[in-house]
Amino acid sequence: MTNLIDIRDVRHAYRTEAGTLPVLDGLNVSVPEGGFVAVVGPSGCGKSTLTKLVAGLLKPDHGEVWLHGEKVKSPRSTVGMAFQNPVMLEWRTILQNVMLPLEIVPNKLTKAQKQDRARYLLELVGLKGFEDKRPSELSGGMRQRASLCRALVHKPEVLILDEPFGALDAFTREDLWQIMHQVKEREPFTGVLITHDLRESIFLADKVVVLSGRPARTQYVLDVPDTGPRSLDHLYTSEAAEMLAILRHQIEVAQGRAPAEAEPETRIAPPPGSAAQGMH
Ligand SMILES: Nc1ncnc2c1ncn2[C@@H]1O[C@H](COP(=O)(O)OP(=O)(O)O)[C@@H](O)[C@H]1O
Ligand SMILES: [Mg+2]
Repeated sequence: MTNLIDIRDVRHAYRTEAGTLPVLDGLNVSVPEGGFVAVVGPSGCGKSTLTKLVAGLLKPDHGEVWLHGEKVKSPRSTVGMAFQNPVMLEWRTILQNVMLPLEIVPNKLTKAQKQDRARYLLELVGLKGFEDKRPSELSGGMRQRASLCRALVHKPEVLILDEPFGALDAFTREDLWQIMHQVKEREPFTGVLITHDLRESIFLADKVVVLSGRPARTQYVLDVPDTGPRSLDHLYTSEAAEMLAILRHQIEVAQGRAPAEAEPETRIAPPPGSAAQGMH
């Protein structure tokens, strides 16, 4: 099967007055259609840069980014994005904020159809009844749900979520995780989730990519087994604990706090048939 997103051997550096800052070096990420990949890695290693490359907002110095069999060369309107701090327009209602991409991306929908689409998504995330509120009247978690609707309203090829739940409290965050699963079931998308939260990565994604420290390369890829509908209880199973231990170790390696090949007694070796796919 061809991948919907293919990041091949990407290298990128920012050129600033202070000099050149190599950010990505040897980045490889592939996501099949309908796949959901989480990207974790040390702060400042280049995760947001990766999202800009996929959205076509940046051109890599070397390597290629492919979306649906097409090389990405310019900004893509077929990418939906949501961030940690959703930018909502206060002079518009929640419904009007969610409809915004439909006013920008060319489409043949009538005004009524655009409204129906936005209303349907708001209901899906539990915001029925809040359509006519202003952004400031909503809690952080509600604004984030509306932001998710806005990112999905034009049925993007790819949904990019850059630490969308990072600013929320733990309980609200877990609510949002479950809403994400409900949304993906009804509105299937191909997704890239940037996160700091390892539990979030294995709860939401089917593949977790660990980036090394800057300049970032793909350091490790973990496949999360498909165990059917996920509930929060899954996070307390021994399988989840094993995956989290592997990821925590890989993050320590990426931060330079643990050697890549740990001593045998501390080494986290994936048991046969386990989730670990291997070092890259
Ligand atoms: N437009 C830019 N110009 C120069 N440096 C940048 C720019 N954007 C990001 N950086 C730097 O590149 C590095 C990677 O940034 P980023 O991709 O935002 O990291 P992450 O999202 O993993 O925290 C950081 O050191 C950041 O300061
Ligand atoms: Mg970032």
